[in-house]
Amino acid sequence: MENILVIGGAGYIGSHTARQLAAAGYRPVILDNLSKGHRQAAAGFDFELGDFTDKACLERVLQKYNFAAVMHFAACTEVDRSVKDPAVFYQNNTAGVLALLNALTAHTIKRFVFSSSAAIFGEPKTDLINENHPKSPINPYGHSKLMVEQMLSDFDTAYGLKYAALRYFNASGSDESGEIGESHSPETHLIARLIQTAAGKQKGFTIFGTDYPTSDGTCIRDFVHVNDLARAHVLALGKLLNEPASLCFNLGSGTGHSVAEVVETVKKVTGRNFDVQTAPRRAGDPARLVADNTKARKVLGWQPTYDLTRIIQTAWQWETHRKY
Ligand SMILES: NC(=O)c1ccc[n+]([C@@H]2O[C@H](COP(=O)([O-])OP(=O)(O)OC[C@H]3O[C@@H](n4cnc5c(N)ncnc54)[C@H](O)[C@@H]3O)[C@@H](O)[C@H]2O)c1
Repeated sequence: MENILVIGGAGYIGSHTARQLAAAGYRPVILDNLSKGHRQAAAGFDFELGDFTDKACLERVLQKYNFAAVMHFAACTEVDRSVKDPAVFYQNNTAGVLALLNALTAHTIKRFVFSSSAAIFGEPKTDLINENHPKSPINPYGHSKLMVEQMLSDFDTAYGLKYAALRYFNASGSDESGEIGESHSPETHLIARLIQTAAGKQKGFTIFGTDYPTSDGTCIRDFVHVNDLARAHVLALGKLLNEPASLCFNLGSGTGHSVAEVVETVKKVTGRNFDVQTAPRRAGDPARLVADNTKARKVLGWQPTYDLTRIIQTAWQWETHRKY
C-alpha cells in the first residue's frame, strides 16, 4: 500500500480526495494546520497536525512515513483577501511551496499533484478554456498559483520532479455519505452561499451584474462536483506513478450555467424561496468561465458525472445535516 501525503486534507477538496485515495487502495496521510480545515473531515486517516511551511514539522512527517507522492491542497483561497493581503498568499501559496519542493527533492520524492486554479488564466479569450489558453492572472491568488506551476516545470527540467497541475473550475457539492462536505468560513463560493441563503443562514442574495453579454445577462460559470475532482486526482496520481511524465489538466464540467439559472435551480431543489437583489458588476468578474475538459477526458479517461441539479442536491443534503 503506497503512502500519499495529502497536505490540506482536512479541507474541502482534500478530504473528498483522501476518501477516494483510500478506496483506490492508497494510504492517505493528512497534514493540515486546521487553519481552515476540520478535524472531522480527516477522521479515519493518519493525521498530522501542523503547518507544511514549518520546516521542522514537515521534516518530521517526511521522515516518519515513506511517501510515494504528495498531493498539495493547502493554500489561502479567498480571491478578495489576496488583493488586500497579497503577502500572506505569496508566503503560504508560493514561498511555502518552494520550501516544500526543496524538502521533497532532498527526500527524493518525485511525484507531486498540485491544486491549481482556473484563476491562472485571467480574462478568457475563448468560449471554452483549454490547457493552452494564455495565462494572465488578474489577482494575487491567481499569480500565486501560476508561479507554482512555473516552479514545478523548472523542477521537472532540473531535478526530474514529475507533477500533475490540476486547474479546478468551480468546485461544488458534497459527498453523498453526508459525513464530509463544504464548510468554508467565510463562504465565498456561489452554490454554497446560495444553499446557506436557502437554509436561512444568510439574508437574501445579490447577483452582481445583469448586463453581461450572456443569454440572461448574468455571468456564466462551470460547476464541477467535488467527487468528480477527487476522482481526477486518483487518476492523475495513477498516471504519474505508472508512466512518469508531467501533466496539466483543466478540470471543469465543460458546461456553463448562468448565475440566474443556478439561483433558480437552488430554489427548485430546496423548495425554498428567498430574496434576490441585483447590483452592478464587480471588478474582475469575467462574463464567462467554462473549461474545455477534452484533455482530461482523453488522457485520464476522466468524466464528470454530476449535473447542476445533482450538485445542488448533494450540497443541500450536506447543509441540512452538517457535521461541521
Ligand atoms: N474550492 C474551489 O472551488 C477551488 C477552485 C480552484 C482551486 N482551488 C484550490 O484547491 C485547494 C483546496 O481548496 P479547498 O476549497 O479545499 O480549500 P480549504 O480551505 O477547504 O482547504 C485547504 C486546507 O489547507 C489547510 N492549510 C492551509 N494552509 C496550510 C498550511 N500552511 N499548513 C497546513 N495546512 C494548511 C487548511 O486548514 C485547509 O484544511 C486550494 O489550493 C485552492 O486554492 C479550490
